[in-house]
Amino acid sequence: MRTSIASLRRRKAAGEKFTVVTAYDYTSARLVDASAVDAILVGDSLGMVMQGHDSTLPVTVEQMIYHAQMVRRGAQRALIVVDLPFTATASTEDAVRAATKIMAETGAQSVKIEGGARIAPLVRQLVANGIPVMGHLGFTPQSVNTIGLRVQGRDEAGARELLADALALQEAGVWSVVLELVPAELAAAVSTRLEIPTVGIGAGAGCDAQVQVWHDLLGLYEEFVPKHARQFRVLGAEVRGALDEYSAAVADGSFPTEANASSMDAATLERALG
Ligand code: KIV
Ligand code: NA
Repeated sequence: MRTSIASLRRRKAAGEKFTVVTAYDYTSARLVDASAVDAILVGDSLGMVMQGHDSTLPVTVEQMIYHAQMVRRGAQRALIVVDLPFTATASTEDAVRAATKIMAETGAQSVKIEGGARIAPLVRQLVANGIPVMGHLGFTPQSVNTIGLRVQGRDEAGARELLADALALQEAGVWSVVLELVPAELAAAVSTRLEIPTVGIGAGAGCDAQVQVWHDLLGLYEEFVPKHARQFRVLGAEVRGALDEYSAAVADGSFPTEANASSMDAATLERALG
């Protein structure tokens, strides 16, 4: 049975953490589904880690749908949340149309949208239309060109604004809110003031849940390990090792072996080819 939004909200009341990880395709989603992680975020971070862009801005609604459909086929249990990409946020009408299309075509359980009090009317409309929304505050990568790559809410005004934004989103009906690159003390204080769960990334252990990017968590992107991440495995090194061994085994004749191929009767071959 699929993990429900209601069950994740109950975790907060029970004081139990939950976990979210990004995934962008069928095989990864199957691995998450067979693990203890509760939810998958089909993040627009796919613009960077899957497509190689240097920001999330170029990602289209169609691309989000393409990746979310692959994830949906691999995940029967995990809750699936899909990012509303920057290209769908030019107007409220665009955003509503895109979120509706994402929900209708992917079978996801929620969308996630970046922004605070400013997007409360959009959140209200989506929730009224039957679309669950996860919020996203603090460092919001779709605003990289206006806010830069830095921790948000460190000064008095910033901290006050973050709490006001979180309360405005909760009031508008989001079921949870991501806090990205927010000082741990502020994230913990916001978490205790909200009824809905906070989902932290670079926001400390006081959040009600955590989210990590697949490639960071698994060490697939070794050149850069963000401060907020831990490489629970270094799969990049494992993959390179496997590829080098494959290449060497072919060169020295140890792969493939008889077990890796089928065979035929020598007499038949002789009669056929002479
Ligand atoms: O796109 C993404 O992966 C995200 C998470 C980092 C929260 O939005
Ligand atoms: Na994102």
